[in-house]
Formats: sequence, C-alpha cells, structure tokens
Amino acid sequence: MTADARGERADECTVVSNRGPLSFRFDAAGALEAVPGGGGLVSSLQPLLAGSGATWVSVAMGAADRAAVDEGRMVGDGMTLLPVVVDDATYRAAYDVVANTTLWYCHHHLFDLPRRPRFDRYWREAWEGYRRYNQAVGDAVADNAPDGSAVLVQDYHFSLLGRILAERRPDLRTVHFCHIPFADPNMLRVLPDAAAAELLAGLAGYGACGFHARRWEDGFRACYADAALAALAGTSTAPRTFVSPLSPDHESLTAEAAGAECERAAATLRAQTGGRRMVLRVDRVEPSKNIVRGMLAFEELLLAYPEWRDKVVHVALVYPSRQGLADYLALGAEVAHTAERINHVWRTPTWTPIALHVEDDRARSLAALTMADVLLVNPVRDGLNLVAKEGALLNRADGVLVLSREAGAWEELAGAALGVNPFDVSGTADALHRALSMDAAERRRRAADLRALVLARDASDWLDDQLRAAVAPSA
Ligand code: F6P
Repeated sequence: MTADARGERADECTVVSNRGPLSFRFDAAGALEAVPGGGGLVSSLQPLLAGSGATWVSVAMGAADRAAVDEGRMVGDGMTLLPVVVDDATYRAAYDVVANTTLWYCHHHLFDLPRRPRFDRYWREAWEGYRRYNQAVGDAVADNAPDGSAVLVQDYHFSLLGRILAERRPDLRTVHFCHIPFADPNMLRVLPDAAAAELLAGLAGYGACGFHARRWEDGFRACYADAALAALAGTSTAPRTFVSPLSPDHESLTAEAAGAECERAAATLRAQTGGRRMVLRVDRVEPSKNIVRGMLAFEELLLAYPEWRDKVVHVALVYPSRQGLADYLALGAEVAHTAERINHVWRTPTWTPIALHVEDDRARSLAALTMADVLLVNPVRDGLNLVAKEGALLNRADGVLVLSREAGAWEELAGAALGVNPFDVSGTADALHRALSMDAAERRRRAADLRALVLARDASDWLDDQLRAAVAPSA
C-alpha cells in the first residue's frame, strides 16, 4: 500500500470484505486445513496489504473458519486479521439469500423476472439476517478503528454498513467500493420498497462510493435521482462517487507467472493442444460469465469457418464458485454437458475441440494466459473483469482479446480489444474468426496497446484512489 496519498498511516487503515485472505476447510481426517481466499478482490488486496500493518475485517464463512477463529489460526501476513463470527443461519441468510441470490442478481440485471425473485416471508427473514450481519461487522469496525481513520469497505455484502458506521462512528472516513455493476433504477425497483429504501440510505451513509466503470456510477446516481426510489429512501442526495478501475498488481503477477509451477503447467497445456491455436477462457462458473454462449460461439466458428477444424482448441478453465447455490450447480452441469456434446459432435481421433478443466488451478490459469492466441471474455454484465487485464499483462503470444462490451473493463480496453455483444453467438463466432485470422502486425500492435493500457494503472493506484476518496460522511 502506498498509503501516502493523504499522508495516511497504513497501519491505521481498515479494509472490510466478506471473504478474507485466509479461509479453512476440514480435511478428510477432520483437521483444519488453510486455503488461500479466492476471487479477484482477495487476490488483488492481499499483496497490497501484506506487511502494511492494516487491519482486514472479514467474516468467517463456515464451520471450518469459525473453528479456526476459536483456535487463533486466523493470522495475517504483516496485517491484523479481524474475522467476525456470526451464527450459521445469519451467515447463510446474508451471504446466500440476500447478497448472492438477491443483490448480485439485481445489480447484474439477471433476475428471471417471470419466475423470480419471490419476496415472501422467508426472504424477509433473510433480510433480517443481512441486517444482523452488517450490524456485527459494523460493531467490529466501530470497536477497533482508530479515531478519524479510513475504512475501505468492499462490495455489495455491506450495503447497510455506511449508515451503521455513520451513526456509531461519524469520525470515520468511509468508502464503499462496488466490485460488481450497479443496478439501473428500474431493476432496483424490483426490490421490496423497504429493502430498496434501506439499501439506498445505507449506501448514502458512506463518505464516498466507488465503482470500476463510469456506467455503474451512472446507474448508482440515477437510482437516487429516480423519483420513486428517492421517495422511498427519503433522500434524493447521492453520496460522493468516484470511478477507479482495479488493475492487477504488475510485479507480483508477472513474477508468479514466470515461476516454475507455471512453466510446468504451460508445458502440459502445450502437449494437450498439440501445437494448435488456443482460444482461452478463464472464469469462475457464474451466471454472468456467459460460458455456455462462449462454447456455442466456438461451435459456430467450426461450422461457419471449416478451416479452423482440427486447427484450434477452446481451452475452458472454469472453476467452481458459490457451491451452496442451486443455480450455480445447475450452471456447472450445463457447462459440462455443452462441452461434452460439442466434443461428441466434432472430435476426431487426434483432436478434442474443447479442453474443459474444472479444478481450480491458479498456475495453470496464469500459464494459459501467457500462451493464448485469443482470450475470450464475454460476460453478459461484469463489474470489471480482471482476467481481461491479467491476460493483457501476461500474454507473450500477441494474443487478441475478444471482450464483451458489457464488461466494465471495456471502458478502458475498447481501443485495443475486439468488442462483442455477449448475447450474439454468431457475432462472437465472427469475432473469434477475425481474431484467429488477424495478421501478425495487427496482433502485435493490439497486444502492445492492450499491455500499455493495463500498465497505465497499478493495483496500488486503485487503493490510493480509495484512500483519497475517504471522507467522513458529513464532510
Ligand atoms: O462477484 C463479485 C465478487 O464479489 C468479487 O468482488 C469477489 O472477488 C468475488 O465475487 C467473491 O466471491 P465469493 O462469493 O466467492 O467470495
């Protein structure tokens, strides 16, 4: 952390996120085993905070994490870890039902409106759980943060925390940073009136709210400007806002990708693709990532441009996410089924068109990003998409980025990527063909431009922007 942006003392800063840098599971013998926290947020924050002396407040995510807290095993790497423990029912209500099944879907515009959401009495009980969860984290921060210090709160799990902190500790300089899109007013109006009001009032309690892209900031401000929502929230005044796209930590990521483990993984991938061109995707299996349409576009590439048959492999590295949610499990099955069907139709004795890997393997992911001829990033809506920027930074093959115009990263990378409408399977197939057919000079130019765009900002710029934006809510 280069926390000198405001003469800040790094060890007085508090960062809050649901998932912390360390989580635990029980091994087969029932012993606690540490696993590094996953997801772009944690992997970006970890190298920035390590050794800084900052406090990282997170929430114990299950029985193993809670046992690790009891045994004093949540210990940070040059920072203070402050894991908050809530009971399992409260956690499931807050994380599974409200954060991930309601707010995440709402902000991604992914509600299946003819059928869901259904805001019944059980959902209202879950909302109570979300309140208790925000309150528990609010108490931990309020009890520990030094006078007047900066508190950087990450993501949609903490929509209510701004107001809680403003009431208990008005001296704190608070920021909320949203890693996902923010809903347009019409979508936010799907929430029950009282919940929408509480959410907007909760966020208005922060000193400032940050976003990866201008369009999510616009959506947020539009919600406060919407007459119906403003009437519900009792305010039409949005808090201060700012836009600060995250970038990968150049130094640590480049060093990791150059390590021996990644070299070994690269050799294995080379053997698997047999010297063919590689269309890569690296994603968690999440409904926003659009993995099935990506595979259908790859199949249409084989249909419409037969010259690519046996010449290209779609390497799909898609890793489990939020396994407690039925929709995510069903999506995983649909992804596997789609890959299997396409392989069944197109495979030859020596060529398997889709190489699907579903075990999370970071070394393999980074190795693949260094090698890809085409990186396909086609989310239907995405706060940023860090993989697009990681690929641009690491790729050594003048790889072409085929990027959804609905990803926040599009705002930064449009000049050098090939844009796609993620809903248009044929259009995506055409973009893959264009990327694979591009002449060497254009590939080199685009890859260099992409890299320059990513190098223009480092992860520490993003953290410094938050520190600069941190003000007390009444300031
Ligand atoms: O989907 C967005 C996001 O919250 C990211 O900000 C974060 O990296 C990740 O998901 C965390 O996911 P999980 O629910 O697995 O902790």
